[in-house]
Amino acid sequence: MSGAATISRVCVIGAGVMGAGIAAQVANAGVPVLLLDVVRDPADRSAVARGAVERMLKTDPAPFMSKAAARLVETGNIEDDLAKVADCDWIIEAIVERLDLKQALYAKIEDHRHEGAIVSSNTSSIPLDRLVEGRSEGFRRNFLITHFFNPPRYMRLIELVSGTGSDPAQVARIADFADRALGKSVVRAKDTPGFIANRIGTFWIQAAMNAAFDLGVSVEEADAIAGRPMGVPKTGVFGLADLVGIDLLPHLKASLLATLPEDDPYRAIARDEGLIGRMIADGFTGRKGKGGFYRLSADGQRRKEVLDLASGEYRAAAKAPSLPGKAGSGDLAALLALPGKAGAYAWAVLGPTLAYAASLVPAIADDIAAVDAAMKLGYNWKWGPFELIDRIGADRLAARLEGEGKAVPDLLRLAGGRTFWRVEGWKRQFLGLDGDYHDLVRPEGVLLLDDIKLAGAPVMKSGSAVLWDAGDGVLVLEFTGKMNALDGEVMALIGKAIPLVAARHKALVVYNEGSNFSAGANLGLALFALNIAAWGEVEKLVVAGQQAYKALKYAPFPVVSAPSGLALGGGCEILLHSDAIQAHAESYIGLVECGVGLVPGWGGCGEMIDRWRKNPAMPKGPMPAVSKVFETISTATVAKSAAEAKELGFLRPTDGVTMNRDRLLADAKARALQLAEGYVPPEPPQFRLPGPSGKAALMMAVEGFRARGLATPYDEVVAARLADVLTGGEADPVDVVSEEDMLGLEHRAFMALVRDPRSLARVEHMLETGKPLRN
Ligand code: NAI
Repeated sequence: MSGAATISRVCVIGAGVMGAGIAAQVANAGVPVLLLDVVRDPADRSAVARGAVERMLKTDPAPFMSKAAARLVETGNIEDDLAKVADCDWIIEAIVERLDLKQALYAKIEDHRHEGAIVSSNTSSIPLDRLVEGRSEGFRRNFLITHFFNPPRYMRLIELVSGTGSDPAQVARIADFADRALGKSVVRAKDTPGFIANRIGTFWIQAAMNAAFDLGVSVEEADAIAGRPMGVPKTGVFGLADLVGIDLLPHLKASLLATLPEDDPYRAIARDEGLIGRMIADGFTGRKGKGGFYRLSADGQRRKEVLDLASGEYRAAAKAPSLPGKAGSGDLAALLALPGKAGAYAWAVLGPTLAYAASLVPAIADDIAAVDAAMKLGYNWKWGPFELIDRIGADRLAARLEGEGKAVPDLLRLAGGRTFWRVEGWKRQFLGLDGDYHDLVRPEGVLLLDDIKLAGAPVMKSGSAVLWDAGDGVLVLEFTGKMNALDGEVMALIGKAIPLVAARHKALVVYNEGSNFSAGANLGLALFALNIAAWGEVEKLVVAGQQAYKALKYAPFPVVSAPSGLALGGGCEILLHSDAIQAHAESYIGLVECGVGLVPGWGGCGEMIDRWRKNPAMPKGPMPAVSKVFETISTATVAKSAAEAKELGFLRPTDGVTMNRDRLLADAKARALQLAEGYVPPEPPQFRLPGPSGKAALMMAVEGFRARGLATPYDEVVAARLADVLTGGEADPVDVVSEEDMLGLEHRAFMALVRDPRSLARVEHMLETGKPLRN
């Protein structure tokens, strides 16, 4: 991309839910942004936009990836500051959904924007042609719709709609920026009501709610059937309504009914359920209100309650029905064939929704790939509508619709006995409207392990890890255990991989496509060993991990780790042993061992000190780096983004961050190949550590926390062990402590803690509740 085409400053107008969140994401990308809203208080004219930024700094999950990002947002108001849009390359309008107000704003923007600046609207329902009525040709050429999803930092989809007059180069420029800088997956949608995701999503929600009322299916039954088994988040439909706000439903419905074609099937199913109207009127709008279809009991016990759809009263939630056999695990034919209400409900949701989706192509999108992508990214479905149809069988779906006297969409007939998706010649292909299959073309710079797997068998495999060939001399190490937990099998595979890469390849990338990179050592396995006092087994795993990670570090080829999601404990330590980290911006990295009564045992302590003492921002001398690391590890602090991980020292200043999840592997591979040129393994560090007097200083701080009730008695025990390791044990500050010595200290501290029943209690509690025990 040429320098002139980059976006170096953005303006967002409208600092509501969406505008503020979009501005934060632009800032997360490192791009300065001007956020404007109306003047509400003449004495404090930019209070609306400034208030929005202040609120976001307190919101959880956080819209900003770091405090530094928040400083990139300049706030103002449209009366005094509109002239500043002249400096912006992209002006995003996210004001209230009213045509007159949007048009009036564009007229003013037209007076100020520079000639090459792009203007886009975040509208969810107003057609593009209406928005640009009255505007000049130049304005129209640079106008489009960029429809973000809420919350803009976390939802990966942007639907991009261009008009007949839009300049393709400008459209491509925004698509590229949204993809690389903002990390979004851009799906091209046509200018039709609700675009792709909300058009199908609203229909689906309505169909699922109607069917629950009509068939007498309870809220929890409905969500159990139309949630996970269909590859939908476990909230299902009622839980989703609670999450987004039940009061949003009538708005979505009204906006679609106002604009959909007269014969659209949604009109036949849209209805006003009296119960839902009463809920909204009484403030039962979901999680943000007094409760929704679910709530926690008000008696202090906080038990889960559900709304009875027939009586409108809350009652204790029943245990969700478990579906027999394959019906519960994605076999949709089995799910639809279930006897009784379960099968009937599944069909009442899926049948009409999938038929509707199939009837909308090409009206809403050029191909089925765009539709599947939009539903997966915008609604977090595991499978898009056409992947769902394939799981049922297009002909089976068509036959059942026909049997019930319903219209069969042309696209289903076109598929005939074929699937919409197939793998051919190592490529994923989809069925085009011409009846032929077409390769799914990934954007340049996108490389997915999922695609690599199509191309052939793994290079090597163990029970918990697999090695893949990513081409150009780069192998990929993938964790495959439950939740990508690390165990002896992972360590053994690392041991075997090293000579192989050294002999025949250039570099290794540690990467996977799970929702979490790795939550660390397999605690379940550890608990089992601890319960039977199998200390020898535990010790073997500590040693195996230390050896495997150091072997990676000193291997004669570069290792690049590329995390996304959680990278905790041992999952963090493997990052620390890599030559470079290429982290997805949404990486949550931490050494959390102290939370379960342990200390990092696979070399994390020494690596963290080494990182901090090499950080140019760190004052010299043995103590500052040690204090910093002690503070981070003893409190089990987890970075909530890659940017925060840099601040906490898990990432080096030189480590890379990738905004778009789909670009992570390609970026990591490129980094690895770059390092492979003339690669020389690192020299082992030689530490100078503060010794017992340093430990005493660290423990004074812990005692302070203890006195203020911020640390528990056992926290103090664990902290003392950690302090012992980090300060070098009995080391004299003038002695050199080797890496081997550090590993020995870690090993000793770990094994001492592991034998303490209070650590066992912490591990047990963590496995049962997912939360730390404060003993
Ligand atoms: P909101 O009501 O939270 O925020 C709108 C903001 O615009 C308010 O702060 C208001 O003061 C400001 N505003 C109104 N008129 C203005 C003007 N003339 N100049 C400057 N600021 C003005 O609304 P929300 O939800 O953020 O929606 C904004 C846009 O995004 C709408 O077009 C909506 O349809 C669309 N959208 C909303 C989504 C959602 O989930 N809330 C999702 C996707 C799109």
